[in-house]
Amino acid sequence: MPAEPYSALAAGYDLVMAHVDYDAWAAYLFDLLRRYGNDVDRVVELGGGTGSLARRLQPLGEYEYVLSDGSTAMLARAREKVRRDDAPIRCVQANFTDVSRATLDLEGSADAVILVYDGLNYLLDEADVQALFRNVHQLLRPGAVAIIDQSTPANSQAHHDEFVDEGAAEQFSYVRENHYDPETRRHETVFDITVDGEHRIERHVQRAYSRHEVRSLLGASPLAIEAAYDSLTTDPADDDSYRVHWVLRRPQ
Ligand SMILES: C[S@@+](CC[C@H](N)C(=O)[O-])C[C@H]1O[C@@H](n2cnc3c(N)ncnc32)[C@H](O)[C@@H]1O
Repeated sequence: MPAEPYSALAAGYDLVMAHVDYDAWAAYLFDLLRRYGNDVDRVVELGGGTGSLARRLQPLGEYEYVLSDGSTAMLARAREKVRRDDAPIRCVQANFTDVSRATLDLEGSADAVILVYDGLNYLLDEADVQALFRNVHQLLRPGAVAIIDQSTPANSQAHHDEFVDEGAAEQFSYVRENHYDPETRRHETVFDITVDGEHRIERHVQRAYSRHEVRSLLGASPLAIEAAYDSLTTDPADDDSYRVHWVLRRPQ
């Protein structure tokens, strides 16, 4: 039976993501928060994984930072890294379709909410995306911003159509196979993992929402759209964008 997504993978997630420039991503988000946020102090990151973004973004703004993720194993890695850095980041387990101020043990509301690198794409049902947007709205104080990114069909088509890769470090190795079906826009990734001598299979399924689908779901949500940017730029997203960064606001 396949393992839960992000259980076995957590041990080698940072290896699998070694190509991602988290410094650039943190700098980009920091700039957006300065531009769109007002008096951002408390930041909540949803789907924050092993904390690679959090440990870079938190010091830029000296934020009061809450990092949450649905996976016990990913959050355990995040906690280790936060402890090693002695970083003022609080880690809380939470499913972002069911997250609230109470589940995050927040006193008051958030000045900003962040969700990046495919978290939204893991929600296969539109009802779950709607629940996510409602929860983000509820976490934010009136006037505060959220930055949520999505991967697009163009990204899946260009980069993930039947590619295979592999890697190894210390007690962890993996082989990853990707398959994207443009008809269903389901993107399946199967990780064949060996960790501490044990062999595990993890199957991840994501939905490549189009920008128009997300815009329409946002239109039905209580959040207002401030901008939709192409990847790590401030150029407007278009149909060729691989990644869209949505800047959203809870209306006053
Ligand atoms: C591709 S990883 C990205 C992690 C992190 N944002 C990063 O950039 O490294 C996606 C993360 O979303 C989390 N995730 C997926 N669905 C979730 C849900 N419904 N609630 C909370 N976390 C979820 C996974 O556990 C995983 O850590």
